[in-house]
Amino acid sequence: MIRYIILTICFVGTLADHPGWNLLFGTDVLNETHKEPLTFDNPVPKWIKGSLVRNGPARYGMGKHSFLNVFDGYAKLYSWQFPGNGSAFFSAKFVQSKSYKESLSINDVASYQTFDNLVPPRTLMEQEMSVAHGMDNMNVNIYNYSGDCVILTDAWKLYVINCYTLETIRECNPTIPNVNTGFPFVSLLSVAHPVKEFGTNHHLTFLQSNSIVPTVPSKFTLVRTKSADIREKIAEWEVKKMPYLHSFSVTERYAIILACPFYVDIEKILSGHLPVNSMFFHKDEPTLTYIVNIKTGKVTTIQTDNVFTMHHINAYEMDEDTILMDVASYPDATVASIFEMNVVMNSTRRNAYPYKPSLKRFKIDLKAEKITPHSFDVNPKVPHVNMLDMPTINELYRSKHYCYIYGPVFKSDFKTWGNFSIVKKDLCNTTGDLSWSLPGHYPMEGWFVPDPNGSAEDDGVLMLPVLDGNQAKSYLLILDPKTMKPIAKSYTPFNTPFHFHGRFIENLF
Ligand SMILES: *[C@@H]1O[C@H](CO)[C@@H](O)[C@H](O)[C@H]1NC(C)=O
Ligand SMILES: *[C@@H]1O[C@H](CO)[C@@H](O)[C@H](O)[C@H]1NC(C)=O
Ligand SMILES: *[C@@H]1O[C@H](CO)[C@@H](O)[C@H](O)[C@H]1NC(C)=O
Ligand SMILES: *[C@@H]1O[C@H](CO)[C@@H](O)[C@H](O)[C@H]1NC(C)=O
Ligand SMILES: *[C@@H]1O[C@H](CO)[C@@H](O)[C@H](O)[C@H]1NC(C)=O
Ligand SMILES: *[C@@H]1O[C@H](CO)[C@@H](O)[C@H](O)[C@H]1NC(C)=O
Ligand SMILES: *[C@@H]1O[C@H](CO)[C@@H](O)[C@H](O)[C@H]1NC(C)=O
Ligand SMILES: [Fe+2]
Repeated sequence: MIRYIILTICFVGTLADHPGWNLLFGTDVLNETHKEPLTFDNPVPKWIKGSLVRNGPARYGMGKHSFLNVFDGYAKLYSWQFPGNGSAFFSAKFVQSKSYKESLSINDVASYQTFDNLVPPRTLMEQEMSVAHGMDNMNVNIYNYSGDCVILTDAWKLYVINCYTLETIRECNPTIPNVNTGFPFVSLLSVAHPVKEFGTNHHLTFLQSNSIVPTVPSKFTLVRTKSADIREKIAEWEVKKMPYLHSFSVTERYAIILACPFYVDIEKILSGHLPVNSMFFHKDEPTLTYIVNIKTGKVTTIQTDNVFTMHHINAYEMDEDTILMDVASYPDATVASIFEMNVVMNSTRRNAYPYKPSLKRFKIDLKAEKITPHSFDVNPKVPHVNMLDMPTINELYRSKHYCYIYGPVFKSDFKTWGNFSIVKKDLCNTTGDLSWSLPGHYPMEGWFVPDPNGSAEDDGVLMLPVLDGNQAKSYLLILDPKTMKPIAKSYTPFNTPFHFHGRFIENLF
């Protein structure tokens, strides 16, 4: 069902510039399938063994209600499975969450917390019910927690799924021993991007506990995740104001939060205001950096320039006292609202939208307790390369010295939000900066799969879904990261609209 068509004469030209745009956002794709064979146009390397599993919105409403924001679309899971003999299979399935099943049964959007409003808007009572039922639509990311496949959003709650069949198994609200999550705290928020703890199979994440009593400060808890259910407290500290947090960095010894001055007013949310209207960016306030020693739990707080970020890229320790940390940054938090349907589906608005991503490197001097931000020079050969977001790296280089970042750029021509490309940023030598794009094709986040026989950081393949707007069909693209030239592609049986994150899980097929 097409929920958002903008039919005015003056739009015909714009639609032609962005063919198939309405298939990228806002068109429901209800089709599901299990292990359907795929045909690639060129041979797939046989060393690729495992599955690319991904998560994102694919149904933008139910019955008479539509979502106002892409972020609220019902979660759908995809997998591209490679048994390692050159064959490949595709599966896709909606997450059978409580909110999705209830919505299906009443043929309307059930009352669960959404980021943004519905069209037509919720009544006050529906909004109150939504707050009471909380966040349930885990449409952002997917992880393998020591054999438990889980799906996440920026909530503490998660769902466990079966990564082979994409079936939904159960919801999960893990407790953390020795952490008070009761009154006066509301402990609902976490990050959608946990990070592997260096040298282990565990992941690190944060619990955000917002205090609802003015005299009690809110607190952060750094948590070790051993499985979907087993959690350990590593450190806990108080904060004056609770920032919105989507990701963070991990080095060998430290977990690092960039607490941008984009604050969540939890009381406003609990009293029925939409999250999108309860988060405020303070232009004149500094960013606080919390550097948590994973071994000792000691927290060092250093102030740095006002900045906003959704996605950390990687960080590593240069020497005993120096950390380098790379993030996809923005001058403020306006990017958090670009996925509103009224913006993303209106080319005048989305092109005019203040959109200024820029890759930033923070040098953290632990001894002097000083942070120096660094921006990268414009490379005239690939002028848009520093505008990447939704970054991916070779995960073997996580928390280590590395050179290459891959990521989509959404405004590659600096003019039209919709001029997509996928770039390779070479942090070590700008001659290595590369970009791939095709007119009318919309590449999404990539994943780097290392060649088991490789030795260089970019020995492997980059896999990513692309919507071919000209043919109105999606495909999986396998790129050679050394050249960013296509190796093979395979159209999927039906479209995989814009979705957020995922990963390649080895030996899963
Ligand atoms: C996808 O679903 C639509 C609507 O039910 C149907 O018309 C179409 O044939 C399906 N496509 C495939 C490839 O199954
Ligand atoms: C790795 O290289 C060796 C020697 O060239 C070869 O025998 C082996 O099949 C390769 N393995 C993979 C997974 O490509
Ligand atoms: C590869 O392996 C899969 C799963 O075992 C099998 O279904 C498929 O037929 C095999 N393909 C080839 C070309 O042998
Ligand atoms: C998930 O991770 C564990 C190690 O933490 C590993 O043993 C397992 O093979 C991985 N894959 C799947 C599909 O569970
Ligand atoms: C698109 O946005 C522009 C600028 O805000 C506005 O003038 C126009 O009416 C919008 N078009 C539609 C169809 O909503
Ligand atoms: C950067 O790469 C180019 C081309 O591969 C090479 O000629 C040059 O020596 C490299 N520079 C550095 C500083 O490594
Ligand atoms: C992006 O814009 C440039 C300059 O107008 C154009 O040449 C290119 O084809 C566009 N790319 C895409 C993917 O639309
Ligand atoms: Fe994200």
